[in-house]
Amino acid sequence: MKSSLGQSVNISITGESHGEALVAVLSGLTPGIKVDRDYIRHCLSQRAPVGKISTPRKEADDFEILSGVFEGFTTGTPITILIRNTNTKSKDYSEMQTTARPGHADFTAEMKYHGFQDFRGGGHFSGRITAVLVAAGAIARLALKNKGIEIGTHILKCGGVSDRNFIDINEDIKSLNNKYFAVLDEKSAQAMQDSILEASRQGDSVGGVLETAVVGLPAGLGEPWFDSMESVLSHFLFSIPGVKGVEFGEGFALADMKGSEVNGSLKVVKGKIIPVNDLSGGINGGITNGDTLKFRCAVRPTPTIFKEQNTVDIKSLENKTLCAKGRHDPAIVHRVRAVVDSAVALVLCDMLAQRFGTDWALEVK
Ligand SMILES: Cc1cc2nc3c(=O)[nH]c(=O)nc-3n(C[C@H](O)[C@H](O)[C@H](O)COP(=O)(O)O)c2cc1C
Repeated sequence: MKSSLGQSVNISITGESHGEALVAVLSGLTPGIKVDRDYIRHCLSQRAPVGKISTPRKEADDFEILSGVFEGFTTGTPITILIRNTNTKSKDYSEMQTTARPGHADFTAEMKYHGFQDFRGGGHFSGRITAVLVAAGAIARLALKNKGIEIGTHILKCGGVSDRNFIDINEDIKSLNNKYFAVLDEKSAQAMQDSILEASRQGDSVGGVLETAVVGLPAGLGEPWFDSMESVLSHFLFSIPGVKGVEFGEGFALADMKGSEVNGSLKVVKGKIIPVNDLSGGINGGITNGDTLKFRCAVRPTPTIFKEQNTVDIKSLENKTLCAKGRHDPAIVHRVRAVVDSAVALVLCDMLAQRFGTDWALEVK
């Protein structure tokens, strides 16, 4: 029954898609972080649905900070963030109350919560809950920025179309963080959006792969065994609804490569040891090696689709068919990108606090 994650920096989230509000409590963040509300709004706008490639359910995502921020700076005590749900159409779900959507969590929620779950709009399993996670993650990203640590994610693949790889990582991260549809190559961006629209016209959905890079991280974060950087990051990334695969560096492709291709080398530059061309994603032995941290997330096609599917009535135990109703994303990968950026920021703040203490991001006045 765990709804929180993190050791030294910890996040708890609550809320339902059609409930009153979503709440995040972020504990353990360094005091003295300047809380830039425009930056939080900017991060939220990258998760918000836009145009026909997203759900028609538009929410203002106005956030309230109820605690932990005083005179514009984090106090170091728990930060509570609240976002109200203002645009719910629960009627769309009344017919679907007992008809489980294949691929969604309707059936598994019934198994766990015995009919007491709030089914409206996917309830606690909805991607809607990630709004408050993104708001909290934005504050974590501000703390990282104080130390020159930047995160950027692009849609590497979507609907069968691929983006180019990272080239100039710092420039690419900068450009991605100013984009809503985070693709490096504009032609690929258009082709991906066309494939989402085509799936949507057919009442179907598409998935994709997100690739994230983090620059500016020190070597030495993470533990050798159960709290390895890969384990802790994956724990959070797999908690994001719709994420079905995580790989570090070249991931599964490493299995087909030779050691000489994967290892890269170590080099001393200006008295500092740096890894060069290591394809394992900036982590060796569970510990960051100071190179760019790189990982990918596979995001499934949205489970709710408007094609007829075979399913069951979970109360009467009858087989039946379902043509889903309601407002849904024909793809979620472009919206999950902001959630991944926030998740990695929260994990890194936790790992930095564990390594260097809670004041790791302190800017003395
Ligand atoms: C930002 C975001 C938006 C989402 N939008 C939808 C949606 O419109 N319809 C839907 O069926 N699932 C949507 N999902 C995915 C479901 O929440 C998710 O697939 C479901 O909870 C089952 O979890 P699982 O895919 O991790 O097994 C969304 C997820 C996120 C993160």
